[in-house]
Amino acid sequence: MPSAPDSGTAARYLPANPATLSLSTVRKRSKACEACPLYKLGTQTVFGEGPVQARIVMIGEQPGDQEDRQGHPFVGPAGKLLDRALAEAGIDRADVYVTNTVKHFKWTPAGKRRLHKKPSAREIAACRPWLDAELAIIKPQVVVALGATAAQALMGKTFRVTLERGRLYRDLPWAPVFFATVHPSSILRGSPEEREQAIAALVADLKIIRRI
Ligand code: URA
Repeated sequence: MPSAPDSGTAARYLPANPATLSLSTVRKRSKACEACPLYKLGTQTVFGEGPVQARIVMIGEQPGDQEDRQGHPFVGPAGKLLDRALAEAGIDRADVYVTNTVKHFKWTPAGKRRLHKKPSAREIAACRPWLDAELAIIKPQVVVALGATAAQALMGKTFRVTLERGRLYRDLPWAPVFFATVHPSSILRGSPEEREQAIAALVADLKIIRRI
């Protein structure tokens, strides 16, 4: 079945041109992914969700605790914040395809809690073919990176969200427009007052997306 060489990445599960597959076939194949050791840590692969005709694709880092349990992206606290910011910006989440750079939850135990752990470069590279397949099939008008992991995976290690947020990058291989903003989880780490300011800034960024 695999036509791509086994490169130590998820490419082994996909043909050379993943756009020849349907999104549901790719999603189904992702469920069996063992391209990196994170499949042993996470409960399940959390693949992207949203309409295949979506004009906007938003990319986070990796599923969190709730996403891992429920099997859906951005359904925990960060997802609730993203929903609020999208609504305030006038974007319907149902029109957006939401996914992650890495499709398994990486965590470390802290008592009874499972604490998020940043994915490594090797894990990001292993998972990349799934993201490339999603983008090749959906062909969005705009790709929005939520936070540094997604932004750097697409634009390179030197990309700084703090410096480049809100700027429109044109004519990328995977979309006519690329845009980076902060990750909703980073907003949740602030004080209540910082939080409201940061949400307002995120909404302002998302309004730029709505306008284009
Ligand atoms: N953070 C992410 O980057 N993605 C999710 O799905 C949830 C939290």
